[in-house]
Amino acid sequence: MKPIQVGLLGIGTVGSGVFNVLARNQDEISRRAGRGIEITMVADLDVERAKAVVGEGIQVVNDARAIIANPDIDIVIELIGGYGIARALVLEAIAAGKHVVTANKALLAVHGTEIFAAASAKGVMVAFEAAVAGGIPIIKALREGLTANRIQWLAGIINGTTNFILSEMRSKGLDFDVVLKEAQRLGYAEADPTFDIEGVDAAHKVTLMSAIAFGIPVQFDKAYVEGITKLGAADIKYAEQLGYRIKLLGITKRADKGIELRVHPSLVPSKRLIANVEGAMNAVVVQGDAVGTTLYYGKGAGSEPTASAVIADLVDIARLHTADPEHRVPHLAFQSNTLQGAMDQLPVLPMSEVVTSYYLRLRVADQAGVLAKVTGLLAEAGVSIDAVLQREADEVGGEGSTQTDLIILTHDTREGTMDAVIAQMQALPTVLAPITRIRKEELN
Ligand code: HSE
Repeated sequence: MKPIQVGLLGIGTVGSGVFNVLARNQDEISRRAGRGIEITMVADLDVERAKAVVGEGIQVVNDARAIIANPDIDIVIELIGGYGIARALVLEAIAAGKHVVTANKALLAVHGTEIFAAASAKGVMVAFEAAVAGGIPIIKALREGLTANRIQWLAGIINGTTNFILSEMRSKGLDFDVVLKEAQRLGYAEADPTFDIEGVDAAHKVTLMSAIAFGIPVQFDKAYVEGITKLGAADIKYAEQLGYRIKLLGITKRADKGIELRVHPSLVPSKRLIANVEGAMNAVVVQGDAVGTTLYYGKGAGSEPTASAVIADLVDIARLHTADPEHRVPHLAFQSNTLQGAMDQLPVLPMSEVVTSYYLRLRVADQAGVLAKVTGLLAEAGVSIDAVLQREADEVGGEGSTQTDLIILTHDTREGTMDAVIAQMQALPTVLAPITRIRKEELN
């Protein structure tokens, strides 16, 4: 059978990895796919750089639409990123009857409904393993490996930049700003790291996993997103003293009234495997009713790890593209005729309805009755305390200090209730600074 022909849009870090891995492992990949997979056209604005990567014999153009217009191309790989031109090109490729492979989490999290509908109408596949957790085959695991399960929740460290920063803050006792600068110097963080440090990149990824886990549409606009920019070294240290590490988690959970979809820093018990995922590594824990807890770990970014996921999608398409579209794996794991009902029944819950536990740090006047007042307010609201830690004032504010830090861990409570109690505590004259609140996930 003649090789399936692929056009590549954008040959940067990941595109080069795809090209190199495909060339290096072509024999084995062809034996798996049942036919060859060949990149025959590459589009990049920097034609000379692209030519230097791919060498002779592959057509390099600066106009992506030349690839879409080529009737010999079966699959288009989109590695441009963002939701501007990438959205237009993906929709045009679909309209031209091409299958699409993309690593673009932002595009699918925001415009996935439109893109998957267009692909289904045209009978083509849009594959996106590389969009979530880089080289970890988490889409495959959720969509195919765990199909027997009613998935209860999943939680992931799905942004390597922030995990690297948090790991450095913990191990070196440094503040966020200092570590961010160092991460940028070392190339771990982008020059503009906003999407990473504000939690947006992780929210794109958890939005996609949530849709696949629960059969709901992709709805990034409903996700709660909080990044790591306000975390202080002191909270990381106190958390550790209480047996926890702080990680930026993407969490999605099936609750009584709907689906939780949220990204925020979380205390995780140090004894959990996921709490020990350090540096730029990624990991996702999935809890299914039949399988129990499963953990997926690996590199969430980088040239060849991400290429590994892109090529796995190419192989899937090479195997399945002659099949009747109804006999392929659905884009979002659930067949469309059952999706509608599930979508209606499972709203994404507002953050005020989320139930979780909390770490609170209060800078208070070190005087009689302060702890009693604070715990009294929690008791009145029905919030149960799990642990309390108070440092000596001298240790916190230096010798002779009259202020100290009061750290409280709570049991599960509704976020709306917690908001109200925090407002009451904040109004106490003995609470001297804005209260720090970090959510806590036991993941058991
Ligand atoms: N910027 C991402 C991260 C990698 O830091 O994990 C690509 O999704």
